[in-house]
Amino acid sequence: MAEITLFPQPRQLERKTGNFTINRHTRIFAEDAALGEMLAAYLRPATGFDLPAHPLDDNIAADARNAILLVRSDAVLGAEHYALNVESGRVIITASHGGGFLHGMQTLRQLLSPQILSDETVADAAWTLPCVHINDAPAFGWRGLHLDVCRHMFPLAFIKKFIDMLAFYKFNIFHWHLTEDQGWRIEIKKYPRLTEVGAQRAETVVARTWDQYDGVPHGGFYTQDEVREVVAYAAERGITVMPEIELPGHAVAALTAYPELGCVGEGYEVRRTWGIAEDIFCAGKDEVFTFLKDVLSEVLELFPSKYIHIGGDEAPKSRWEACPACQERINAEGLADEHELQSWFIRQIEAWLNERGRNLVGWDEILEGGLAPNATVMSWRGSDGGIAAANAGHDVIMTPNTYCYLDYYQSEDTDSEPWAIPAILPLKQVWQYEVVPKQITADKRHHILGGQGNIWTEYMPHADHVEYMVFPRAIAIADVLWHHPEQRDYDALVARLRRHLPALDIMGVNYRPLDD
Ligand code: ACM
Ligand code: ZN
Repeated sequence: MAEITLFPQPRQLERKTGNFTINRHTRIFAEDAALGEMLAAYLRPATGFDLPAHPLDDNIAADARNAILLVRSDAVLGAEHYALNVESGRVIITASHGGGFLHGMQTLRQLLSPQILSDETVADAAWTLPCVHINDAPAFGWRGLHLDVCRHMFPLAFIKKFIDMLAFYKFNIFHWHLTEDQGWRIEIKKYPRLTEVGAQRAETVVARTWDQYDGVPHGGFYTQDEVREVVAYAAERGITVMPEIELPGHAVAALTAYPELGCVGEGYEVRRTWGIAEDIFCAGKDEVFTFLKDVLSEVLELFPSKYIHIGGDEAPKSRWEACPACQERINAEGLADEHELQSWFIRQIEAWLNERGRNLVGWDEILEGGLAPNATVMSWRGSDGGIAAANAGHDVIMTPNTYCYLDYYQSEDTDSEPWAIPAILPLKQVWQYEVVPKQITADKRHHILGGQGNIWTEYMPHADHVEYMVFPRAIAIADVLWHHPEQRDYDALVARLRRHLPALDIMGVNYRPLDD
């Protein structure tokens, strides 16, 4: 029997004898017409079959042959849990929620020849599934990939392809990093200058020299209609889009558009270089909070996500130290210093979000000066912030740079890799990612919601370069977050990836080849 290779690996897989072959007479039966159509749409391009999706009723379910049935059952626990039974006469995907059915469909796609992933009809292919019984559910409820579209802007078509890849590997969160020093990328109707001014930078530093610029303006943004399109596209594929609107730091593009929101109040320019900016939103001026709440009001309209990421990282305090309005705020609120002012700032935003039924997520710097009461911490500077937050009873998403930063070099031999940030994270190390650090006490482990890979794009001007950095490392992250293997045999991972990579070739993904 041919080896079965699935990413992520299912929790339970039992191989049976026999096969099921999809042909042009195969019928799909589903209670939920949209899910039936989703499966038909996945199978249509490569097979050329326009498989009809029929409503499901119990009589049919009992007798159908040459059929794929999507059967809802409350006996399947967990919104993402599914069972997939391939028998010689029919295929049954059982789940209690849409998310489970979608995962079952991805597994079904991966069980077929990788040619099924082609967007053009493949003549003479055999669409044969091995008979299996799979019972599967994720180890972690938060399985994300982040993408920075600010350092470089990527076309909507790539955002959709990225979401397709997330769905293929059973991620369920797309963390969309939309605002930065180097560009503001989301249309906000009430503040048009955010995109008229803040979405463009004059040119970009040439990373290899640091003292030359490319002389090429760079910019762009997503309209609210495009954002809605992305959110809907993701939702159809079982993925929640969590927006990130950075505050109080990483705000220079916004300050360039509206200089009165900074402490100094003038002299800003959408940044042409990388690194951390001294200029951040003023914490003393009330109009800053009016602005941020107005912006977030539009963001909440666009994104149903319960979690809203507000950044919080890398906010130097030099401007606040020198700003009369910020110092006045420290006095008026009885704060000890600028770190407590940062905490106060975040708490204002958290209270406002919580009143609207949303949860605040921030990078681990939001621990500075005291964590906002209900905040979820995204631990990126290693695991310490996540450990402290979980042990203090806060929810945590573990994205330690030491395992999850996909902008780092993939090999020690950096000269043979495209230019990247000076840090190294080979696939082998990603595969060692332990989502729950052992310093978290047993009674606090449930606070670790899961993890994600982060993709900062300073050195990735084009989508194919992003793909090179993301794959195959993100596949290892998906595998860890889904089935959390106790044993991490790297050679076994590489052998599985070698069998799997033709799938990426067919999907037109520019992955980094495995080392020989
Ligand atoms: C980060 O990487 N600055 C969160
Ligand atoms: Zn100020």
